[in-house]
Amino acid sequence: MDKEFVFDGLVDEANLLNQKQAISDIFSYIKDKKKIVLYGSRNRAKTSIIRNIIFPKWKKQNPKGLAIYIELMHVKDLADISERFTKSFNQSYGELAKIKTFLDTTIKLFKGLRPSYELGENGKMEFSIKSSDGKNIVDIEELLDRIHDLSEKGVPCLLCFDEFQDIAFVKKAEAILRRKFEDIGSKIPIIVLGSKQHVLTEVFEKPKAPFYKWGVKIEISNIPYEEYYPYLKERFIGELVNTSDEVLKYLQDALFRSPEEIHRIGYEANRKCSSMPLTEGVIDDLIDQYIGGNGTVFESKVDHITSQQLSFLKQIVFSRDRKVSGIYSQDFLHKVGVSSPGMQKIVKRLLDRGFIDRKGDSYTMNDPFLFYHLKKTRLS
Ligand SMILES: Nc1ncnc2c1ncn2[C@@H]1O[C@H](COP(=O)(O)OP(=O)(O)OP(=O)(O)O)[C@@H](O)[C@H]1O
Ligand SMILES: [Mg+2]
Repeated sequence: MDKEFVFDGLVDEANLLNQKQAISDIFSYIKDKKKIVLYGSRNRAKTSIIRNIIFPKWKKQNPKGLAIYIELMHVKDLADISERFTKSFNQSYGELAKIKTFLDTTIKLFKGLRPSYELGENGKMEFSIKSSDGKNIVDIEELLDRIHDLSEKGVPCLLCFDEFQDIAFVKKAEAILRRKFEDIGSKIPIIVLGSKQHVLTEVFEKPKAPFYKWGVKIEISNIPYEEYYPYLKERFIGELVNTSDEVLKYLQDALFRSPEEIHRIGYEANRKCSSMPLTEGVIDDLIDQYIGGNGTVFESKVDHITSQQLSFLKQIVFSRDRKVSGIYSQDFLHKVGVSSPGMQKIVKRLLDRGFIDRKGDSYTMNDPFLFYHLKKTRLS
C-alpha cells in the first residue's frame, strides 16, 4: 500500500502532505547557493523533506555532485562533530568514487590527508579518509577546506546539518563553524535545521551570537485544515471515509494539529473502529486508550523534571485554551510557586528541552499526548 498513515519515522514523498511552498523555496535558494535555516515545530517533516525530497532530487540533477547530510543530535565536543562529519563525508564521497573519472580527478585534492578506496568488510568498495597522522577522524575545518577545493574544481556541493542547535552546547563550535562557513565561500549552499526550535532561534537570532542574521529563513507552517480532509479520507478504511469534515477538524485540533499524532490516531481508528464514521467521542476514546496504553512512556518523560516545571505544565493543561500568558504576573508566579528569576529558569529549561513552545507572550505544550497524560494523571 502506497498511501498509509506514517508516524514514528521519516515520511516518503507519496505520503508527504502539503509543504510544496517550503520545498520550492528550498530549491530556489539552493540554486542561488544560499544558506538556509529551516524552522518548524517538532515533527513537521523537516528531516523528511531534506532526506527524502531535496537530497534525491538534487542528486538526480547533479549526478556528480557531493551532497552531505550530517546529524548533530547530542554532539558532545568538537571531536564528536568532526567524527560525524568525517563519516558522512566518507559515505557521500564513496558513492561518487564509483565514477572512475570523478575519483581520478578529485582524489589528488586531499593533500596531506590519507584517502583510500578499497574493498570493505562487507565486500563493497568503501571510501575513507584519514588525517595526516593516521586517525579515522579528520578535523571538520580541514574537511570543509577540502570540500571548498572540490567546489572550486567544479564539483557541485550541498551541505546539510540536522539538529544543528545542539552545537550551542559545544564550546566554541558556533564561532568555528560560522567562520568556516564564511571561508568556504558563496558557491556551496548550506541547509541547517533542528528539532528544538527555541534553541535554534537562539543560535540565529541572538544579537551577540556568531550566527546572528546568518542565512535565509524558511518556516514550515501548519497544514491548512481543508488540505488534511482528503489526505485522511484516502487513508481511512471502511466507514471511516464517511467521517464529516467537522469531525476531521476536531481530530486535528485535539492533536494540536501535529501530523505525527494525527496519523497515529488515524491508524488506531483503522485498526479498531472502521465500521462507523468517526465522532468526537470516539476520537477522545482513541486518544484516551493510547495514553492509557503508553502511560509508562509519558511518565518517564516527566520523570526527571522538577516539581516546579511540572507545576508550570499543569497550568497549561488546566488552562481554558491550552495556553498560558502573563507568566510573570504575581498571580501566575504564585500558582507555580516561584519567584520571577525562578520562572525565567523554568521556562528556559522547558523551552530548551522542547516541552513547550513560545509564541509572543503565550506558552503552549508541544506534545498533545503528554498533555492528555498529565491531564489524566495529575488531576489533583
Ligand atoms: N506534511 C506532512 N505530511 C505527512 N506526514 C507528516 C507531515 N509533517 C509531519 N509529518 C509526520 O512527522 C513525522 C516525523 O517526520 P520528521 O522526522 O521528518 O519530522 P521533523 O520535523 O524532522 O521532526 P523533529 O522535529 O523531531 O526533527 C512523520 O512520521 C509524519 O508522521
Ligand atoms: Mg528532524
